[in-house]
Amino acid sequence: MDYLHDWANLLLRWGHLIVGVAWIGASFYFNWLENHLERQKASLGDGVAGELWAIHGGGFYHLQKYELAPPRLPEPLHWFKWEAYTTFLTGFALLWVVYYLNAGTMLLPPGSALAPWQGVVLGLGVVVGTWFVYDALCRSPLGRRPAWLALIGFALLIALTWALMQVFSGRAAYIHVGAAIGTCMVANVFRVIIPGQKALVSAMQTGAERDPAHGRHALLRSRHNNYLTLPVLFLMISSHYPMTYASEWGWLVLAGLMVFSVLVRHYFNIRHLAGRKVWVLPAAGLALVTLMATMAPESPPSREAAAREAAAREAAAREAPEIAFGEVSAIVEERCAGCHAAVPSFGGFAAAPAGVALDTGEQIRRHLKDIQRVAVTTRYMPLGNVTGMTDAERATIGAYIANQPPAPGS
Ligand code: HEC
Repeated sequence: MDYLHDWANLLLRWGHLIVGVAWIGASFYFNWLENHLERQKASLGDGVAGELWAIHGGGFYHLQKYELAPPRLPEPLHWFKWEAYTTFLTGFALLWVVYYLNAGTMLLPPGSALAPWQGVVLGLGVVVGTWFVYDALCRSPLGRRPAWLALIGFALLIALTWALMQVFSGRAAYIHVGAAIGTCMVANVFRVIIPGQKALVSAMQTGAERDPAHGRHALLRSRHNNYLTLPVLFLMISSHYPMTYASEWGWLVLAGLMVFSVLVRHYFNIRHLAGRKVWVLPAAGLALVTLMATMAPESPPSREAAAREAAAREAAAREAPEIAFGEVSAIVEERCAGCHAAVPSFGGFAAAPAGVALDTGEQIRRHLKDIQRVAVTTRYMPLGNVTGMTDAERATIGAYIANQPPAPGS
């Protein structure tokens, strides 16, 4: 069962990545096209807004964009929608396989008052509910004031992140914010952009007047999708970076990264325009550096302070009995090795998670630095603290590692 679970995880993640690349890739490509059309040429045909030439894969391509529509509906006409839909479907299934099937460890923090099923219901509610709130905001009078809409949407997203961090584990909170944004983006395609295009096509076929509201709505939603792409891609890989989500300030870190990535996106949107704003990229860089500086762990002690500390440690070691490696390995064996073994005994794992096995003394020695980072500094292991590691045990491991002579070369 666990073995099949691992395969489901692998295949869904792989598939999600592939269709996601196809979706975002197509979207980047059409943005690029729009930005590079030559619109001033005398040779443009009737009703043609712009054209461009490109070379790729050993062939020349000639693309034209129409002001409104070509005189006759072309056949076949290619649509781009399944990239978005399949990204949603694989992502949803992956959320289920990774977070909901193991909700006790993956979704909820240690000591959560929620039962796993309640966590799952809450998670689903957030993903679906976000779309209804967002859609209502876009359709409200606020939809005509895009800057205010963006500002309020941003504030709501950060509030949502904060709230989720109070009930879910940090990484689950982040992934739910990502899933909620991604769902809004796909729903924009499914509920607004594609219906708008269908209305356009059917107006052409029947010769009816086109409803300009369709175009306006679709434009707003495409803009949102454009700007949300980079933040959502970060959220999808965020689980690899505990430094972002593992502190109580994780919601602010996400706010900073969103500002940074939206500015970068903005730069790419405007960089070909005349009168572009040169400050955008430096502002993005400044936002990133500020964030990095704010998040930085305490700076290393000065040389004198380090010497004083070493002396104090030596004195303490003389008084307190030295912590033996056996003590550390016993703790790791009890609290970690259930999952981190060549053949894990803990349900839900078919192989050592992240390739880190900790079931022999040799392996524990090899991974001391990692153990310190995840179990003492960030404390995000044991996952969900399912094995009930105590603070005293963390302190013991920390003290043991702190007393090791620094590795040669470090
Ligand atoms: C319930 C099962 C479970 C237990 C118990 C557990 N881990 Fe993990 N561990 C995981 C999973 C799953 C991952 C991969 C998660 C990820 O990629 O963030 C992981 C990843 C890791 C990693 C690699 C990721 C990184 O940031 O370097 C290290 C190191 C690690 N665990 C150490 C430990 C230590 C030390 C303990 C005991 C104090 C422990 N784990 C207890 C499930 C567990």
